[in-house]
Amino acid sequence: MYKIFETIDDVSRYTAQRLLDRILAKPDAVLGLATGSTMEPVYARLVDWLWQHPVDLSRLTTFNLDEYVGLGASHAQSYCHYMCRHLFDKLNVPRERVHLPDGMARDLEGACRAYSDAIQTVGGLDLQLLGIGSNGHIGFNEPHTPFTSRTQVIALSEQTRIDNGRFFSDPSEVPTHALTMGIQDILEAREILLVATGPSKAGIMAELYHCGVDEALPATALKQHGNVTIVMDREAAALLPRELRA
Ligand code: F6R
Repeated sequence: MYKIFETIDDVSRYTAQRLLDRILAKPDAVLGLATGSTMEPVYARLVDWLWQHPVDLSRLTTFNLDEYVGLGASHAQSYCHYMCRHLFDKLNVPRERVHLPDGMARDLEGACRAYSDAIQTVGGLDLQLLGIGSNGHIGFNEPHTPFTSRTQVIALSEQTRIDNGRFFSDPSEVPTHALTMGIQDILEAREILLVATGPSKAGIMAELYHCGVDEALPATALKQHGNVTIVMDREAAALLPRELRA
């Protein structure tokens, strides 16, 4: 299902409302969370609402999609740091219920296996929030990642390193590798929200719309899932068929 809104603010309100609805309907929900610039206004809106109308988050569990290899929690560009800055420092989710892949683990492969196992142990993800890379990645599952993948160490594509260079003082500082939840882990979520905003996503959103299920475009894996909402602003949807944008 496609939901197309006029502005980023509209997209963020809708997405934050969907997250809040899930939490209210199921206080012990397991949420899969994403980082990146798309999610910043979503989390800002959610935090805003939860400050105005506090909700007990003590039974909520979260799993983030990914983390850079070699960046610890104190690194300003680690996803752990991002999540604390935008969400967890502002909300009362118990820290022991917050999970991110450990990019500093000595045994990265073991940490990956344990991560997918931990998701299964809590009964799977109720709702997975996703952004999309300009090359179609979801999480950091780059083009040609098998759709059967579990949490794994992945070499970031040149495109992703260029795109994410904007967050680092020097683009050469973007790590070459990351840990990412696998596509199979994502597909097992009971509900998925993919969010894309801004003109830089228009090309990939049109490709995603027209392309069949193909490992060359990781987000097409979502076409095999029965409960996905794709949320866009007008700019990200600009190259989609006119009738969808009406
Ligand atoms: C981040 C993640 C990535 C981003 C994607 C879009 O946790 O999983 O797939 O969602 O790279 O990033 P932004 O929102 O910065 O364009």
